[in-house]
Amino acid sequence: MPDLKDSKSHPEGDRLETTTQLATIGAMVPDLVHKIGTPLNIILANAELLESSVQDERGAARLLAINEQIDRITTILHAFLDLAHPEEPCFGSNSIQQVIEDSLIFASEELEQRAVCVSTSFAPAPAIICDGNRLKDLFTKLFLNAANAMNEEGGGELNIALETCDRDLLIRVKDNGEGIHPNNLPQIFEPFFTTRPSGQGCGLGLVAAQQIAEQHGGTIQVESEVGKGTTFFVRLPLDKPTDSL
Ligand SMILES: Nc1ncnc2c1ncn2[C@@H]1O[C@H](COP(=O)(O)OP(=O)(O)OP(=O)(O)O)[C@@H](O)[C@H]1O
Ligand SMILES: [Mg+2]
Repeated sequence: MPDLKDSKSHPEGDRLETTTQLATIGAMVPDLVHKIGTPLNIILANAELLESSVQDERGAARLLAINEQIDRITTILHAFLDLAHPEEPCFGSNSIQQVIEDSLIFASEELEQRAVCVSTSFAPAPAIICDGNRLKDLFTKLFLNAANAMNEEGGGELNIALETCDRDLLIRVKDNGEGIHPNNLPQIFEPFFTTRPSGQGCGLGLVAAQQIAEQHGGTIQVESEVGKGTTFFVRLPLDKPTDSL
């Protein structure tokens, strides 16, 4: 079995660099959001005003492009904000099976677009104390990544398995997508690392997923083979460490 990679397996220097990068982003974000958000709102308001006066198809297509790019900037800004200033977790008793099923609904549009065949296998597992919404974010990010890694022609398969293992819940998210090149594997948990086409990914999904797992005293690991697929292993303790409550 290939070595499992997670952010904790990085050399200490890399971890430090990631932490420093996040701290720098954290300090900049509120100011940045304000500075970018104000002109963005003005652009949006003007684009809306123009909508009623644009008559031809080319003009309408250009307006659509403007609106799509504004949406994109807004999404990136929110991703920055969530990462740099995550909301206080709201812990309660949750079924992880339910969390996974809800996350599959959130990712269903992208999974359906690529005609991904989803299968699940849920072993009986006790409810755990966790922030259900944050964990839904985590699994949705993994499912969206799997959808993005799939061949557009179809034939994609995503398998999700839940089981208990020692004192942990182990969730395996396995896809048969393009896989991750061994050179890229050590970088995928770093902020802004993306291999998606320009304008599509901002490389913050796995950083956020890692942050959420750690808030729960858990881990995320990955193994991957180019051309065969990728498996993420999410481990969440059944008994949540009290210091993170
Ligand atoms: N299931 C997967 N299959 C193949 N590559 C993956 C998979 N999951 C992650 N990756 C790789 O890891 C990179 C980082 O993933 P991450 O979710 O952090 O960012 P992203 O998907 O590129 O952008 P976004 O911020 O929109 O999520 C991806 O660009 C891709 O190269
Ligand atoms: Mg992603």
